[in-house]
Amino acid sequence: MSIEKMALVGTGVMGMGIAQIAAQAGLEVRLFDVQQGAAQAGLDKLKKTLEKLVAKGKITQADYDNTIARFVVLDNIEQIAGVDLVVEAIIENLEIKQKLFKQLEQIVSEQTILVSNTSSLVVTEIAASCQHKSRIAGFHFFNPVPLMKIVEVVKGLFTSDEVVDELLKLAERMGHFGVKTKDTPGFLVNHAGRAFGTESLKILGEGVATVSEMDRILREAAGFKMGPFELYDLTGLDVSHRVMESIFNQYYQEDRYRPNTLTRLMLSANTVGKKVGEGFYKYDQDTRLNQEPPQLVPQVSEFKPVWIAADYESDAEILKQYVLSQGVVLDNAETPAADSLIILATYGEDTTTASQRLNVDAKRAVNIDMLTDFNKHRVLMPSIVTEQVYVDQAHALFAANDHGVSVIEESVGFVCQRVVPMIINLACDIAQQGIATASDIDKAVRLGLGYPYGPITWGNVLGPDRILLILDRIYAITGDQRYRPSPWLQRRAKLKVDLLHSVNKVSA
Ligand SMILES: NC(=O)c1ccc[n+]([C@@H]2O[C@H](COP(=O)([O-])OP(=O)(O)OC[C@H]3O[C@@H](n4cnc5c(N)ncnc54)[C@H](O)[C@@H]3O)[C@@H](O)[C@H]2O)c1
Repeated sequence: MSIEKMALVGTGVMGMGIAQIAAQAGLEVRLFDVQQGAAQAGLDKLKKTLEKLVAKGKITQADYDNTIARFVVLDNIEQIAGVDLVVEAIIENLEIKQKLFKQLEQIVSEQTILVSNTSSLVVTEIAASCQHKSRIAGFHFFNPVPLMKIVEVVKGLFTSDEVVDELLKLAERMGHFGVKTKDTPGFLVNHAGRAFGTESLKILGEGVATVSEMDRILREAAGFKMGPFELYDLTGLDVSHRVMESIFNQYYQEDRYRPNTLTRLMLSANTVGKKVGEGFYKYDQDTRLNQEPPQLVPQVSEFKPVWIAADYESDAEILKQYVLSQGVVLDNAETPAADSLIILATYGEDTTTASQRLNVDAKRAVNIDMLTDFNKHRVLMPSIVTEQVYVDQAHALFAANDHGVSVIEESVGFVCQRVVPMIINLACDIAQQGIATASDIDKAVRLGLGYPYGPITWGNVLGPDRILLILDRIYAITGDQRYRPSPWLQRRAKLKVDLLHSVNKVSA
């Protein structure tokens, strides 16, 4: 079967985005909206968008004419009869969607595929009271549809493999990556996106660093395009906080997805983000009014010798070479001399715990995060008792030649060591649950969330053993279930195999 005729029900933001890429892919697209005039208004708006693309030379006048000619605006839902596919993009309400699907079944043939663009409802539930459930699936696009080149093809409990295959083919024809997912809360992309925001909020709530500093660290050191709080402000907490609560509750209060009381409070105060002029930052149009500048580097004239201890020899070597390159004396003795600055490079612990484990003086200890590239932004963590003179020396030493440095309060695992391994761990759990394949998770997250790496590959790049060490330690110190390492990660780290490694038999 080939899908040539499609009906789009609900011509809002998402509906018209889907209609656009379908028509551009050559499908005939019939538009219907319950609100009178909405479908025509949607088409008129789309015409303006496409006219601009013609003016910019992105599409030709012929492309424009052909695309627009493929649209038919309906004034009666009965006129969708005869299409191969109906895409529903109406209001996010289960009862209303269920009612619509039952109505659709009365109009179209048994072969017509019916899909929902829902992001938070259960596809199986939408299909539950229909007669021919195997032709019903989720087809979940992202906003803005023409630019976000990914669509989740959600296989509900009743959905047939043939329908999934047809939708995957159609996605490709539309120029999108179709990723097959199970019908689980948040499907794949919104599920995988839970770690970045919730862990950042938890770190912020512990007073580890300010909003500006955390955004800076995650952008500059970890390579995210936007810091978590910039992103929350852009999306709006009216959307983000509700998604956090919804996925947490749908997973029966699983700790990995635990939302935060801070965003609940901000939602109550209506400081939901940029659109209201205030969220984590205050705004005047596009300008952030209260963004803090980078931390001032202290002036240090005399450097004490530096003693280094690291979990990994490779980190110790990088640090030793660096200290020497700055003309500072290295203390190479087995234990630090009485006044040496103690630089630790440890994983998944705070500096107090690291100092005690390594039996060094916490008053002179500063831990450095070596998880991310040492040549990028550097993050230092003194203990709660580290004397200022040692903090200043470490800060000045690592900030030499205008290098970006953040000094943070004690955290069980810095900032990046918490956020990035949580993302990797969650992706491993998604693979473990068979919600999607490991390689599909990687591709979908890159396209859907724009992370610097797919999360499973990111685990390989940073080293599965390091990620496991971090999570094991954080879990041991905090006792918080959210940090427990996924069995998928544990097996592959222990066997020293690639995190993308799958098994042929059952999911292991
Ligand atoms: N906005 C997003 O970023 C986004 C992303 C992914 C998925 N979604 C999902 O896509 C769907 C649509 O979202 P949207 O943001 O485009 O909404 P929207 O409010 O912009 O558009 C919804 C349209 O559906 C129409 N409508 C409502 N009930 C109808 C009915 N019974 N029959 C026909 N038309 C009806 C409305 O008149 C409106 O034009 C929702 O299920 C939403 O969860 C939204």
